[in-house]
Amino acid sequence: MDFKIMIAGEIASALDIAFGNAPLSADEIAGLLELPPDSAMGDYAFPCFKLARSLRKAPPMIAGELVKVINADFLSRVEAVGGYLNFFIDKALYASSVIGEVLDKGEKYGSSDMGAGKTICIDYSSINIAKRFHIGHLSTTALGNALYKIYSFLGYKCVGINHLGDWGTQFGKMIAAYKHWGSREMVEQGGVQALSDLYVKFHAEAEKDPSLDDEGRAWFKKIETGDEEAISIWQWFKDLTLKDANRVYDMLGVKFDSYAGEAFYMDKMGPVIEELREKKLLKESDGAYVVDLEEYGMPPCLIIKSDGATLYTTRDLAAAFYRKKTYDFTKCLYVVAYQQSLHFRQLFKVIELMGHEWAKDMEHVEFGMVSYEGQALSTRHGHVIYLEDLLNRSIEKARAIIDEKSPNLEDKDGVARKVGIGAVVFFALSAGRIKDIDFWWDRALNFEGETGPYVQYTYARCCSVLGKAPANLPDADYSTLDDAEAQDIVRLLEQFPKLVKEAAQRNEPSLITRYTVDLAQAYNKFYYEHRILDCEPATSAARIAITKAVRNVIGTGLTLIGVEPTEKM
Ligand code: ARG
Repeated sequence: MDFKIMIAGEIASALDIAFGNAPLSADEIAGLLELPPDSAMGDYAFPCFKLARSLRKAPPMIAGELVKVINADFLSRVEAVGGYLNFFIDKALYASSVIGEVLDKGEKYGSSDMGAGKTICIDYSSINIAKRFHIGHLSTTALGNALYKIYSFLGYKCVGINHLGDWGTQFGKMIAAYKHWGSREMVEQGGVQALSDLYVKFHAEAEKDPSLDDEGRAWFKKIETGDEEAISIWQWFKDLTLKDANRVYDMLGVKFDSYAGEAFYMDKMGPVIEELREKKLLKESDGAYVVDLEEYGMPPCLIIKSDGATLYTTRDLAAAFYRKKTYDFTKCLYVVAYQQSLHFRQLFKVIELMGHEWAKDMEHVEFGMVSYEGQALSTRHGHVIYLEDLLNRSIEKARAIIDEKSPNLEDKDGVARKVGIGAVVFFALSAGRIKDIDFWWDRALNFEGETGPYVQYTYARCCSVLGKAPANLPDADYSTLDDAEAQDIVRLLEQFPKLVKEAAQRNEPSLITRYTVDLAQAYNKFYYEHRILDCEPATSAARIAITKAVRNVIGTGLTLIGVEPTEKM
């Protein structure tokens, strides 16, 4: 049942009766209906302000006239307050129709086919080779993964791209360092950590002996010109880094469809540079080539350095064209920290100036910085928190809490894994993405706070209630769900499909994260106030139905943000 459409129909005919004139169609009216901030103000509200001009009456007057002629079975009450008409839907009908819909659609509730036939490229995580995965890359990974799931749920085909940072002079330096102080065994054993150590050593030594820099450059030249030894060492470093990162991706349940990184575009920049030149966008500046963006309030976009080398931006330019050609995206998202905002503004502008209208389909999904228990992270000052360590510690801590709270739980390790990892991901996706986040253990793992464990616990609570429900219950009596607690839940359940769409439209998974907290809190209130199992059977059936609906929607919400629900906890 679509109450919006039904109410809009009532308003349209009321306009006809009261004023002999309906200046808005039922569709337009439906589009104007609002959800009041507080349930005491009704389930839907219609602002009469849009009608004032055509009816030549003040909005409160219009509301006052309309309220007199509206009368429908599905409405328990209609009120005129200020310029608003507030609609109260018959509570039993509201509950049965919303819950019926949730249970009917099951895991698909909230999904849509709005994205059918459309492709979205999502560039996320995009780690740098020879660096260990630290918590600076948590947000992009968690956000990108969530967006991937959200868009897929809405019917889009998603292409997850890990745009590897695998090109640049630093790889020449790393090979030089490896040649001087490294060995195969040392790197095999120490993995990516050994590579970063070598890199740090290189810089320390190069301060004393600048000729090392030349060596580094020479090795990079060899990578560029395809020297067999250089390429094979570089490829080995890449494999090591990915092996390391894949452990983290496995823990997080994150996947990619493509690992085409910067190096992949080395042979694909030529045509783009050529096009820039043809379109007279390329300007020489001290031997380098740039696109002038002064008119748009930005510094020039450097395309080719004076030594002929290309840049991060040049590769991103080639990548954008490649993605458009290969995937024909309707949107191409870059989930990258806000520090790179100028880079992306320049990139998008250059493509626009080249005359490609799809430049408007590219979006920088930016996010804030992560710090750890009040301390900024900095590779340079040695204050780094590796994501794998953080996740493992979280699992350990979750395990300790479970040992204490539920000593008899089966599969404690499996549950601790879901709770520990879930807590970190949930925390990363809790606040609006542009906010900086400060990771604190007691905020992420608090079982009573607005956390992943709290929501997972509520999910498990629903599962436990449902596990105890008798098999043969009579039909649910939805009129017993007229209490404020149940009605709050119903209202939240009803909002879910719209919320998922909004999360996609704003590229803001935190809307879903916060929603799961609201729904969990609403359910827990209901749970404390009402008996679910030992009460009159038709009442019990209705309360079990609402429990099932809550379990479904919390389960879907958690899955969409990349947190695994757990049936027992
Ligand atoms: N590797 C880069 C970094 O860690 C992020 C790359 C983002 N993607 C892109 N297409 N530029 O800062």
